[in-house]
Amino acid sequence: MADRSWLRAPRRRSRRSKARTRASSWRSFLMRRRADLFGSGISMKSKGYGGSVNPEVEVFETADGSMTLVDVARGVHYRSRHGAVQESRHVFVEGSGLVGRTGTWRVLELGFGAAVNLVETVRAFREREAATRLVYHTVDWRPVGPEALTFHDGEGGELARAVALKTQGSAGEAARVVSDDGRIEVVLHAMAWEEVVLEPGEQVDAIYHDPFAKEVNPQAWTPTCFAWSRAWAAPHARLTTYSAATAVRKAMEEAGWVVWRAKGPGRKREMTVATLQDAAVELPGLKRWGQG
Ligand SMILES: C[S@@+](CC[C@H](N)C(=O)[O-])C[C@H]1O[C@@H](n2cnc3c(N)ncnc32)[C@H](O)[C@@H]1O
Repeated sequence: MADRSWLRAPRRRSRRSKARTRASSWRSFLMRRRADLFGSGISMKSKGYGGSVNPEVEVFETADGSMTLVDVARGVHYRSRHGAVQESRHVFVEGSGLVGRTGTWRVLELGFGAAVNLVETVRAFREREAATRLVYHTVDWRPVGPEALTFHDGEGGELARAVALKTQGSAGEAARVVSDDGRIEVVLHAMAWEEVVLEPGEQVDAIYHDPFAKEVNPQAWTPTCFAWSRAWAAPHARLTTYSAATAVRKAMEEAGWVVWRAKGPGRKREMTVATLQDAAVELPGLKRWGQG
């Protein structure tokens, strides 16, 4: 079995106060590792995709004590400041219905970002004995480097850093990593969603629609984008997102999704779930949008 110990983050001593130290020791470690892999002289500021540079990010502690990233220049947070893990679990891991599934879990995520959803999905998968395989496709046109993901512990964190590092060696392509036991496969498509094509016939059980808000990523909230994800959805699939905006829900409907309202995470009143099932069917915990 390949030695992957170098991917492990230094042992955590405490939370935020240690984040900077970890990042800097990781940075120098990765500098050395990259020199081994790709030759010396490679800058830590990797080239972005689509002609732009990857964002400068900092680790940010959210209200539930969990971490996310903040894009320093734009002041944009990658997960809710009210609770990164709380939002991830409620909206995506549980909201998608994945946690109740047996057998294989297949996910398509728009927005690898700070990898909180990936890490929480891996955690939920390992906790569910009846789940046998996890295939996690994640899309990001400006993926952060592995040095930004040192705040994640455990297997999910290792997979996130491994796939982020691999992507940087193959700009604009899909990078794939597999867990030691072969049950988890993560594919990071380092490109805009329009360019992502899955294997013919491949269908997913859950779509995590998780770009930044419409003001920042307008092209990711259009009917065309929701039609793109619908093309990869299994008949029973659920798309979930933190947004409850009317314009977003209309765009989903235009793309052929059946739209539902659900309770949002924490104090947030609503979020959105979309399905391909018969609109007349009742789904526990969900209210059909547009039906009062
Ligand atoms: C809110 S963050 C994702 C957070 C992440 N899911 C997590 O759990 O940490 C949004 C991400 O979507 C990516 N993104 C936005 N628009 C995109 C597009 N058109 N194509 C691909 N990626 C996009 C951004 O680069 C950013 O990293």
